[in-house]
Amino acid sequence: MTNKTDTIRERYDAVPYRHGAVSDSHPARVGAIARLLGINAAPPDRCRVLELGCGEGMNLLPLAERFPKSEFVGVDFSAKQIATAEAARAACGIGNARFVCADLRSWKPEGAFDYIIAHGVYSWVPPEVRDRLLAVCTEALSPNGVAYVSYNTLPGWGLPGGVRKFLLAETAAHAAPDAQISRATQVLDALSECMKDQPGSYAANLRDTLDDMRAKPPGLLFHDELAVVNEPCTFTEFTAHAARHGLHYVAEAHYATMQFENVPATMRASLAPLQLDFARAQQFMDVVFQRWLRNSLLSRRPVAPARAIRPGVLADCALGLRMTVDAASINLTPGHPMQFTGIHGLVLEARAPVEKAMLTVLASAFPERLPFPSACAKMNQSLAEWGLPPAQDFSALHEFLHRLLALDALDVILFGDGGWLKTGPQPGLSALMRHQAAHDLPLTNRWHEPVALTEEGKRALIDPSARPDAESLMRAGLLV
Ligand SMILES: C[S@@+](CC[C@H](N)C(=O)[O-])C[C@H]1O[C@@H](n2cnc3c(N)ncnc32)[C@H](O)[C@@H]1O
Repeated sequence: MTNKTDTIRERYDAVPYRHGAVSDSHPARVGAIARLLGINAAPPDRCRVLELGCGEGMNLLPLAERFPKSEFVGVDFSAKQIATAEAARAACGIGNARFVCADLRSWKPEGAFDYIIAHGVYSWVPPEVRDRLLAVCTEALSPNGVAYVSYNTLPGWGLPGGVRKFLLAETAAHAAPDAQISRATQVLDALSECMKDQPGSYAANLRDTLDDMRAKPPGLLFHDELAVVNEPCTFTEFTAHAARHGLHYVAEAHYATMQFENVPATMRASLAPLQLDFARAQQFMDVVFQRWLRNSLLSRRPVAPARAIRPGVLADCALGLRMTVDAASINLTPGHPMQFTGIHGLVLEARAPVEKAMLTVLASAFPERLPFPSACAKMNQSLAEWGLPPAQDFSALHEFLHRLLALDALDVILFGDGGWLKTGPQPGLSALMRHQAAHDLPLTNRWHEPVALTEEGKRALIDPSARPDAESLMRAGLLV
């Protein structure tokens, strides 16, 4: 008799889960957040990384290619997906990555890992595999190691979970994946049409849920909504499960999403009588914002007492500003207001010369990420051009930059020896980027971000006679 886990494996062999890099799982980003909270995580260019449920290896391989002195191991029980990962690895000559086809229930890790990644696995496997996933983290994490585990959360998955159950029943008569996907698509389209003019908040919520499902590529719909197992949990349940394995909650990999200070003041005031501690505040935020996914970081070591932040860690990081400034408005005169615009409608007004100079330097360098020391050198140069003294108080600058990270306005990455931040003498696409474009695999840039390509764009990358515009490749982070 086939058990649930065998069925899951067969389904991934039949329809691969084609998904690209998960930028928040990058060891340089995870490591920076862990260090901010007092865990001395390893630098990305000298570390060991393990990915559990690595699928086709498209998260692990770009990292392995970027960090030749680090070591990468990916484990997945789908032979078909591991074969795709291994073919890409071999074709690109990536010698520091290894893929293992094994069931997590029986696989034993060898040696300690500085980073363990499990993206899209915890909620999609039966309880015994979920348990084993956390047990592997406990067994294999180095003392300062950090695990990244994503999971579907409640109450965000409440309505999608209900629609999913209903879809499973509606498609139950269709055994073949194609038939199941096509019936599910037909049902979703009909429901969407039926709800399109309906008034009220339930109809609006349902429309959003249906739209999300309909927007997915068929393979993702098959494994996300039509999965054999998809069990969301609350933040409290997840952290309690981790604690039973001796794992401490560190932070969210998407750092801005855990900041209670980002919750509007009126909402915080309403919750104030409840006297929420850190963990309960996280749980309440999930409820009020209907959160459906978390990417939590865990460690065998507890974070600094009272979750004290060490912003001085930013001196070991490279910084990429996700804000723009109108070049004509640059004026570093003390007290003169300058506006910087970020994502999610964020507008920041800076008046202090050091803050304005740093933001201007980072904005003009983007998408490059500047190591803090070179950003400071450029900042002091700008200040000198305005006849202003260099920065004196670095702790105030670190605090300011930490606030930007907490607002989702700054990409912060540990740089290690920094060599990997520079492009080579003849910048070009990496072997893996070419392989991804040529084999219809998700393309990843040098900052570990997915890059969407049109068919024409893809052809321009792989046709040796085509001359893609170097400036736009540089902006997309596709030159290394
Ligand atoms: C939703 S996919 C996510 C894949 C990849 N991490 C990503 O985000 O693109 C879940 C992966 O877990 C793997 N998996 C599920 N159960 C497993 C088990 N018991 N042992 C090893 N791999 C497993 C599946 O084969 C699949 O590749």
